[in-house]
Amino acid sequence: MNPITVKDNIYWVGAIDWDVRDFHGYSTNRGTTYNAFLIIDEKVTLVDTVKRSLTSDLISRIKEIIDPEKIDYIVVNHVEMDHSGCLPEMVNLIKPEKIFCSKMGHQALLQHFHHQDWPYEVVKSGDEICLGKRSLSFLETRMLHWPDSMFTYVKEDKLLFSSDAFGQHLATSERFDDQVDQAVLLEELTKYYANILTLYSPNVKKLLEKVAEMKLEIDMICPDHGVIWRADPTKAIKSYSKWCNNIGDGNALIIYDTMWHSTEMMAKAISTGLQDEGISHKLMNLRYIHRSDVMQEVLNASALILGSPTLNNGLLPRMADFLMYMRGLRPTNKIGAAFGSYGWSGESVRLLNEAMTEMKLDIIDEGFRVKYVPEASDLSRCVDMGHAIGKALKEKK
Ligand code: FEO
Repeated sequence: MNPITVKDNIYWVGAIDWDVRDFHGYSTNRGTTYNAFLIIDEKVTLVDTVKRSLTSDLISRIKEIIDPEKIDYIVVNHVEMDHSGCLPEMVNLIKPEKIFCSKMGHQALLQHFHHQDWPYEVVKSGDEICLGKRSLSFLETRMLHWPDSMFTYVKEDKLLFSSDAFGQHLATSERFDDQVDQAVLLEELTKYYANILTLYSPNVKKLLEKVAEMKLEIDMICPDHGVIWRADPTKAIKSYSKWCNNIGDGNALIIYDTMWHSTEMMAKAISTGLQDEGISHKLMNLRYIHRSDVMQEVLNASALILGSPTLNNGLLPRMADFLMYMRGLRPTNKIGAAFGSYGWSGESVRLLNEAMTEMKLDIIDEGFRVKYVPEASDLSRCVDMGHAIGKALKEKK
């Protein structure tokens, strides 16, 4: 196994998880990687580790370069188990002189592994340590993705270890952005932000402002998932700048589930109205499309039109699941509307409206419900809803 060089004397020593298909409710159809990096200097440093089940991959990659016992420092940019699960084994093997982590990282490490005896060295934003020829400086990035998260920057190499930020759940034999299909890369970058970071967009915004203010020169971004940004790190930064400002593309999503096709008929009629207005849109039937794939589309959408029939005084289960997931991620700055069929009690449209109100969506139609099966006049009302949403989107541009 040849070592994978990232920069002179900096190596990728992570692990590729070809099998993982679920990441706390997010479908990872292309697997992922857990990236870890080894810096060979007077103080040999391991930046991040991997998921526990892939510990042997990390150890064998390190052994191709150096005896693990020669590692002096471990940097823990993030405590979530996909990056720290193997720490007890690694600490035991390496017996590091120091483990660098943020203040919140220190607490989280104690609460995960219960080792008071590890040689923690708590760092804060702006702290810098010397490894010999290189230095590492730290930037706390609270809530990207957890309270403990931080970045580590190597100014001599203009290299940023960005932890979860700028990552993609993408298992590949390639390690760099210029080696993979660009459409796939953008798709996975988008899906990752949508499903992991949407909620923390205000933090992303502040962080990008801070990085600009610090005038950090960045030649390369090494996230902890997916490929390394070496050809064009600005691509990832520009995408994050757009997403953290909640700028939609002017398009609409009709997200629905249906019991006996009535709600589906309404969805298609709304689609006709949008089509008439020249609005790009997608129909997303939750029976066939995973919640995290829908969220990926929500990130860039400007209108969300939600449809569900009423079942047992509530929503169909897949819509309830999706709403719970989306409410947690809190997308903002979008137009909303609701529709659905019912048999007798008919609560679904009210429930959808309440959820959208709670999410602070701009509801531009009171919503429309149809008893059992829509007739021509009902479908015409749905087409009108599509027209109204289309017009509102054009005005918003
Ligand atoms: Fe990749 Fe928040 O862990």
